[in-house]
Amino acid sequence: MIDHAFLWPDTAEVLANGHLAIGGCDTAALAREFGTPLYVLDAATFDAAARGYLAALARHYPGRSAAHYAGKALLNTAVAQLAARAGLGLDVVSGGELFVALRAGVPAEHIHLHGNAKLRAELQQALEAGVGAIVADSLDELATLARLSAGRAAPQPIMLRVTPDIAADTHAHIQTGHAASKFGFALDALDAAAACVAAAPGLRLRGLHAHIGSQIFSYAAIERAVGVLLDCAARLRDQHGIVVDTISPGGGLGVPYTADQPQPDYAAYVAAISRALAEGCAARGLPLPALVLEPGRSIVARAAVALYEVVATKPLSSADEQPRTKDEPLAEASADPSSLVVRPSAVTRYLHIDGGMADNIRPALYGARYTALLANRAAAAPAEVVHVAGRFCESSDVLLRDVPLPAAQLGDLLAVAVAGAYTLSMASNYNLVPRPALVLVQNGQARLVQRRETYADLAARDVPLG
Ligand SMILES: Cc1ncc(COP(=O)(O)O)c(C=O)c1O
Repeated sequence: MIDHAFLWPDTAEVLANGHLAIGGCDTAALAREFGTPLYVLDAATFDAAARGYLAALARHYPGRSAAHYAGKALLNTAVAQLAARAGLGLDVVSGGELFVALRAGVPAEHIHLHGNAKLRAELQQALEAGVGAIVADSLDELATLARLSAGRAAPQPIMLRVTPDIAADTHAHIQTGHAASKFGFALDALDAAAACVAAAPGLRLRGLHAHIGSQIFSYAAIERAVGVLLDCAARLRDQHGIVVDTISPGGGLGVPYTADQPQPDYAAYVAAISRALAEGCAARGLPLPALVLEPGRSIVARAAVALYEVVATKPLSSADEQPRTKDEPLAEASADPSSLVVRPSAVTRYLHIDGGMADNIRPALYGARYTALLANRAAAAPAEVVHVAGRFCESSDVLLRDVPLPAAQLGDLLAVAVAGAYTLSMASNYNLVPRPALVLVQNGQARLVQRRETYADLAARDVPLG
């Protein structure tokens, strides 16, 4: 039995040999076969999350609703296939993500293209593919789209992303709906945006979109965002004679990374949004629109575990250890003020691992916290509290702080939970370290779906002087 099982994939178990298994695969064997760092994605957990959303939508908003997996959380061809097979559409934010989605066979009409600075070539690519919607973000983008779409037989559906002026209760780096956000149209630009679409024969206004941020635990702000979107819909009806067909309040449902955080409740989240839509439409005399949700993290985060090898340990002299101070940023996923309290640390050692900020930048970027265990001794009781240092040449590359573990030795295998979202998709080649592999596990079978980078990959785009 794994402690805090709700942080690990649904299929996680401890085998008789004491090893952590996921999807019926012994993680120590996976590490031997595929090397470390290794990301292990559990198909069953991904599917269950997708099913959770679709069942909640069918129950609370039957008829015209869809869930689009936000590919920025983690995307390659296999993940896009998993999403499509689970019945999800796909949100993409670049030509590269669109290319992968199409390569995976996701029907173009189930793809939405987002982004605050889409390139002309990416807009052209989306128009040629015939995506279900381009979610426009600025008047300049609409002007480009109007030119590129002129002469089309069927107009391209457009959604307008608005900035609802709502600051979600989450880390500042992942707030996106406040007035100063770089994303979306300011509310006072809505009329100009609608007029721009109406004047372009190649475009058709399909709907309105807002996404107020990520890792959100309280639904109140999202319900307020729905209200703002419906105010916009009423304004478009009253001033432009436009009927808004589709509303999307984005994604953003939070997930726990540590045992003190709440679990996502798809049904309650979808019910809250559906209620806000139904009541808001009734109050404004609007017809019920189609609803599109865009979950990323809450689909894929818990489905993956990152495996690292412990390559060195180092004592931490107590004189060197800095207690947590009140000036440290609130951990991104935490709404718990007690995490700001100064507390003495019992940490005596650093474990140094063979990965870190280049495959998971979240701790360095916004103080994200994680949970870990030793995958080759998964049932052993914690014996010490350690910091886990990444291998990259930045002091901020400390992947976990204050983590209780059995006394770790060189060669032990560290498993980090909830590692699926915004990790590999944000990975870099910092220090020219090849990026890790991703394996998909299911029913005891492991399939390599993204191979480890090699030095040859690094050399392939490196042009010597001669
Ligand atoms: C427009 C949009 N939709 C959906 C998402 C997915 O958010 P999350 O992964 O928090 O569900 C994002 C993430 O930033 C986004 O920008």
